[in-house]
Amino acid sequence: MTPTATVTTTLKANPEHPEPVEPCLFVIFGATGDLARRKIIPALWQLHTYGIDARGCVILGVSRDGATDDAAFRAIVREAIPPDDRSAGDLDAWTSTAAYYQPMATGDPGEFAALRTRIEEIEREHGLPGNRIFYLSLPPQAFPSTIAGLGAAGLNRSPGWTRIVIEKPFGRDLASAQELNRLVHQFFDESQVYRIDHYLGKETVQNLLVFRFANAMFESLWNRDHIESVEITVAEELGVEQRAGYYEQAGALRDMVQSHLTQLLALVAMEVPTAFQADAIREEKVKALRSIASVRLEDAVFGQYAAGRVHGEAVPGYREEPGVSPASMTETFVALRLCLDNWRWQGVPFYLRTGKRMARRLTEIRVRFRKAPVWMFRSVPDTTPQANTLVITLQPNEGFLLFFDVKAPGEPFRLQRLTLHFNYDEEFKTLPEAYQTLLLDLLRGDQTLFVHADEVETSWRVYAPLLDRHAPPHPYPAGSWGPAESGSVVPEREPREAAPRAHAGAGTETGAAA
Ligand code: BG6
Repeated sequence: MTPTATVTTTLKANPEHPEPVEPCLFVIFGATGDLARRKIIPALWQLHTYGIDARGCVILGVSRDGATDDAAFRAIVREAIPPDDRSAGDLDAWTSTAAYYQPMATGDPGEFAALRTRIEEIEREHGLPGNRIFYLSLPPQAFPSTIAGLGAAGLNRSPGWTRIVIEKPFGRDLASAQELNRLVHQFFDESQVYRIDHYLGKETVQNLLVFRFANAMFESLWNRDHIESVEITVAEELGVEQRAGYYEQAGALRDMVQSHLTQLLALVAMEVPTAFQADAIREEKVKALRSIASVRLEDAVFGQYAAGRVHGEAVPGYREEPGVSPASMTETFVALRLCLDNWRWQGVPFYLRTGKRMARRLTEIRVRFRKAPVWMFRSVPDTTPQANTLVITLQPNEGFLLFFDVKAPGEPFRLQRLTLHFNYDEEFKTLPEAYQTLLLDLLRGDQTLFVHADEVETSWRVYAPLLDRHAPPHPYPAGSWGPAESGSVVPEREPREAAPRAHAGAGTETGAAA
């Protein structure tokens, strides 16, 4: 399905139309860590090369180790920029004028006072108006002391605006999320708080709003009368990588379901917001989450990958990964079924499935419509009624497919399944990276794509019955679609029958493996 009007205004494709944001100081806690190097610093560089920070955005890196002074941090910043992006602007000039470093070893009050002095010095030197962003790119156990340290040093207020960014996971259950929210709100107003879920920065996720609410055709079908089920899958080929320290404590339910999959569910299920504004959208998402009937343990299946092959390459099982206990009970796969108790969705199952070391990297939302109530083609040989299916794909391709029947040309009379498809890459060529989008919104002060305190708490409340399970996870071979037991709560992914004609590789009607 090719849109007739081609819009080309992605961030990347439109550097001639920079959107200057107010000058500010961007303070990154954990500035020498993995997330800062892979995502935050490259995104800031890209925004800089598009002229978005033309009026001045200065970075102050803060960390316990990894750098010693401004010069060492500037070298880290330079290295963090992917080689292909380095020539997009004057990287040396940027790092030497817009990147500073402040070590913080213990996080005691003296160090926060020194940080404040340094911030004020840099602001004076650059003539900045006191607008500040504090980005906590830190392990979750460091959130409370950093938030309290900022508050105690009076860094929660400034002559301009102050924003605080908190990465996921936000808490590890309802009680800890509530406690963290209480601490945050002791020093910061909710309007200053930006909780990150990077899925909200993905184009297709934002496109869900446009798809649903700009196209009345779909919205009029978007309810229990026409939809039979909704299936959300986030499958990764990667294993736990070097993150065992974090993942052993988290597992797939906390790492993926409570955040990313729940955000996707909320956008699919929510009612029409009154306006395209942060509060209106976040309010509707919370309402949708509140209507989720309590999730029961018997509606969930947990799995853990064993040794296997991914794309022919032998990989170890989760318990053999570095840093993982050989007796680990941590789940790397979750499948679950839940229902929303509201007029729109009553009786429509929502299936969620996510796992590491799955057969294929795939993120999609599969909306199955109800079949035709009366099948008038019953006299046609080899023809059975099939439902229309809409597959919104996020990874590896972003776009959507709509499966429907046509008459195959000629005789004998036959029905054939075809797809209409739309693919972002084909249509728009370049897409902004999620972190670019989120950082731009952060610089502009737009909270739409960030998670509200109520959302995060409601989400933990939904999954509370599953958090303290004791049964061991079911093993599944790496490179599969998860444990066979998951077939009892979510639809099985069957072997692929035929590639969709129009758009091979993006997804199939049955949800089949490639
Ligand atoms: C992160 C999780 O939030 O999302 C990781 O902590 C996961 O475990 C990652 O691999 C997946 O993100 P994406 O954008 O690659 O789907």
